[in-house]
Amino acid sequence: MRFLTRCTLGSLCGSGETLHAAKGIAVVDVIPWTYDLKPALALKELFVHPDAPRSGVGTLLMRRVSRHAIEIGAPRLIWSVLKSNRRGAAFYEALGATKDSVWDAWSLDASPILELGRPEHGNPARRHS
Ligand SMILES: CC(C)(COP(=O)(O)OP(=O)(O)OC[C@H]1O[C@@H](n2cnc3c(N)ncnc32)[C@H](O)[C@@H]1OP(=O)(O)O)[C@@H](O)C(=O)NCCC(=O)NCCS
Repeated sequence: MRFLTRCTLGSLCGSGETLHAAKGIAVVDVIPWTYDLKPALALKELFVHPDAPRSGVGTLLMRRVSRHAIEIGAPRLIWSVLKSNRRGAAFYEALGATKDSVWDAWSLDASPILELGRPEHGNPARRHS
């Protein structure tokens, strides 16, 4: 079982160390949150080796992630689950997690990113000044 911050994951990959021996992996990122000036812990990856399903590894990893949240004073743990991932949803529900009722997840797809990010748009703030 491995618990990693994004930085340690980066250095592990950089050093060529493999994660093959791990039964599962959790990767987290700390996000400074301006709303209440407390950090949020973002769960970037949670993966249990397919050879060890329903053996408690996922729960152990989430316990470790939660302990890290307590250690850094993060009152919220955030992550996304693909709508089609029913197994993942069932796992999180079993832990007592719920869909966020306060924050909606928003995203920008490739097409509007390309449109908004076109250099010829210039600086829109200038047009209104
Ligand atoms: C989702 C995942 C992390 C669960 O890990 P796991 O080690 O199998 O989970 P646990 O053994 O700790 O399960 C704890 C509880 O979650 C629920 N649960 C776990 N897998 C489930 C499944 N496939 N169907 C229904 N409930 C499930 C059960 O209540 C389970 O308790 P029980 O086995 O005593 O009934 C793992 O299946 C996985 O890595 N999936 C692929 C990657 C993924 O989807 N990651 C999460 C999405 S971001």
